[in-house]
Order: sequence, then C-alpha cells, then structure tokens
Amino acid sequence: MIFAANFKMHHTRQSTTEYLDRLEALLERAEYPFKVMVFPPATALQPSREWITVGAQNAYPAEEGAYTGEIGLSQLHEFEIDTVLIGHSERRQILGEDQEFIAKKFAFYREHGFQIIYCVGEPLEVREQGFEAVAEYLWEQFDDIDIDYERLIVAYEPVWAIGTGQAAEPEAIAATHAELRRRIKRPILYGGSVNPTNIARIAEIPDVDGVLVGSASLDPEKFHALMIPV
Ligand code: G3P
Repeated sequence: MIFAANFKMHHTRQSTTEYLDRLEALLERAEYPFKVMVFPPATALQPSREWITVGAQNAYPAEEGAYTGEIGLSQLHEFEIDTVLIGHSERRQILGEDQEFIAKKFAFYREHGFQIIYCVGEPLEVREQGFEAVAEYLWEQFDDIDIDYERLIVAYEPVWAIGTGQAAEPEAIAATHAELRRRIKRPILYGGSVNPTNIARIAEIPDVDGVLVGSASLDPEKFHALMIPV
C-alpha cells in the first residue's frame, strides 16, 4: 500500500519539518510494509527521510527560466526531490492547466527520471452521465501520457469527492479502478475524502494500491492512524 499526503496550501516550512520528524518517529516504532509520501507546499520542500518520500505538488516543465511564480528542475534538485504530482484537478480547474500543458510537464519530468503521481478524475456532471461517460472522460486525461512509464503512479480522484467528506462508494471506486486497470499496469491510488473511518473499506478494494489523502493527512498522528487498520 502507498500512503501519500497532499498538504495542498497548508503547512509552513517549520511545521512541515516538525510533521516529518513526528511521522518519522511514528514509523520507526514498527516496520510497516508501506510506501509513505508527503507533498508539502513548494516553500517547505526538503530532502526525503529514510521512510518518507518528499515530493513536489507541482513543477514547471523546464530547468529554469522566465516563468514568474514557478519552480522547475533546478529548484527541485536543490532539495533532492525526484517525485512530482501532475494533473491534480485543482490545477486543471482552478489554475486552468489543459491536457496539452499537463502532458508537457509529464514528458519533461519523465525524461528526467522523476517518479510521477499522475492524477485523473471526473467532475460530478460527468459522473451523473453514467459510467461510460466517466471512462471516456478519464481516458481523455491520459492523452499524450506514457502509461507504461516505469516510475508512474496513477491517482484516481473523483472531483466531487475531494474535500467534501464524502468519499466515493466502494463499488464506484472498484468499478473505476477496474476500468483503469485494463490499461494501467502501474499502481493506482484512490483520493477523495479518505479518512480513518473509511480507509479499511477502501484499502480492501481490488486494484486500489494506495491512497492520496488531503485533509486527513494534515496531522501526522491522524495520517499515521490511516495506516493502522490496513
Ligand atoms: O490530492 C488529495 C486530494 O485531492 C483529496 O483531498 O481533502 O478530500 O482528502 P481530501
């Protein structure tokens, strides 16, 4: 199982360091067969710990250059970061990233050997049109993405389940992951209101190889508690 924490625009540099110290101490107490990842804001990036991979929530597809407000490969190298989230729905919808730009990011960081957590997910209006529409929508989000890349991890995050406290039903997750599994051979994570109450049911779904967690990951004890029932 992979447990990934997406802080989004929460935590400072100092609180991220304290978080990693605490989580590291919790993980040290027992040997977990888990892969643990933390994605803090860009200002809090720092090298990975022994059991915790630190990754970037976003990065521009260039080494450096005239891209105001962005960070790129050289800034990530400074902190020995080689893991990046690409295609999160908040970047697609709020920041207006289109598939062409997302695919460009993917290709750039793939070329540089990064581990890529690639996010896909449908909005509510598509879900309401039925499963075929969902499948078509999701596969379009793989346009120009190398799904055979060996350092790819896919995260399925239905937009309507993100930050709502209402995770998708296990049956819906199972059906969607099974659809993705037809072509995706790499791990597939589920994201969207994962919490200590629903984790056990989500983790046992076939083709769920891990979870990408937002709000329930912000506290190290709570994030660590997610790993216990699994
Ligand atoms: O990337 C994780 C995310 O979008 C899910 O957020 O707060 O619903 O767990 P949340």
